[in-house]
Amino acid sequence: MSHSSQESPSTNQPLTALVAADLAAVEAKMRGNEQGIFPPLAEAFLSLIASGGKRLRPTLALLATRLFAPMSNQAIALAAAVETLHTATLVHDDVIDNALIRRGSPTLNASWTSGATVLAGDYLFARAAAFAAETGNVRVITLFAETLKIICEGELRQLAARYRWDQPKEAYYERIYAKTASLFAAATEGGAVLGAAAEDDVQRLRAYGYHLGMAFQIIDDILDFTSTDAVLGKPAGSDLGQGTITLPVFYFIQAAADRSAVLEPLEAWAAADGHAATLDLVAQIAQSNAIARAYDEAASFIAQAVAALEPLPASEVRGALLELATGTLGRHR
Ligand code: IPE
Ligand code: IPE
Ligand code: MG
Ligand code: MG
Repeated sequence: MSHSSQESPSTNQPLTALVAADLAAVEAKMRGNEQGIFPPLAEAFLSLIASGGKRLRPTLALLATRLFAPMSNQAIALAAAVETLHTATLVHDDVIDNALIRRGSPTLNASWTSGATVLAGDYLFARAAAFAAETGNVRVITLFAETLKIICEGELRQLAARYRWDQPKEAYYERIYAKTASLFAAATEGGAVLGAAAEDDVQRLRAYGYHLGMAFQIIDDILDFTSTDAVLGKPAGSDLGQGTITLPVFYFIQAAADRSAVLEPLEAWAAADGHAATLDLVAQIAQSNAIARAYDEAASFIAQAVAALEPLPASEVRGALLELATGTLGRHR
């Protein structure tokens, strides 16, 4: 992790400044300029794009290409594909979670029916697929389709695992790979493929994206306990209420002197659907050692992400990727 400071650009600009101009091209591509789209739909997806987001996945895809080759239209198309796919998954996720705020703005499902919102999400999936096809690279197109399958299946698995307090930790890891790390890995693998990297290097980039994605979701799951709606721009403290078992919950249950003393109230609460009771539990977990243990695990995934890039020659772009990884541990939103 010491590399990052040596390899940072000497300016104080964020490292993502390396791809700022390319990201602007990605934004323009995502917005598109087609005429004649059903106006409420056009308005909905344009406002989703305008509401921002960290643009982490397209940044990763662009940097992964730039590590091996100059920027290309193909790389821009891949970056637009992964961010549009991500946006579509958020639209669907907010329907499933009945979340009314995202990126500090009202969600589509706050004003549209679930059915209409799901269709708008589907439309975004199709836009994303069209961008993936624009890469003209069969491996990348296949990777995109495989990743979309994994994400959908993962969200279904997560739904099925709700309120099952006594599940193996491996089930949590499978879920966060499916819903989050798979797309990070696809972004960095796809970027490397489009940069015509050697296969060993493609696998290094994939491993980097995978480990970063795992850590990113663990941090998201920690922030759900420790942060606020205002900072996150989305509902905090909501995972437990949805019955979604995340890493802090595992450690909290594990540390209990009397397991059943923790599990019984959880089960009773889930059966009674008394959401107010979770507020107290969210606060207890937030103040417990479970947060530090989950954070340590995120840190160990980040160490593996960093290690995956170690065999690559030092460069400004590699420095940016390393800094993105280590910065994830300190993120607040
Ligand atoms: C939110 O992703 C969903 C997760 C995988 C935790 P981001 O935190 O990247 O969301 P935006 O794009 O910045 O809003
Ligand atoms: C990520 O997980 C969801 C998707 C990949 C769609 P979360 O459910 O934790 O995402 P947030 O917290 O709502 O952003
Ligand atoms: Mg959610
Ligand atoms: Mg979350």
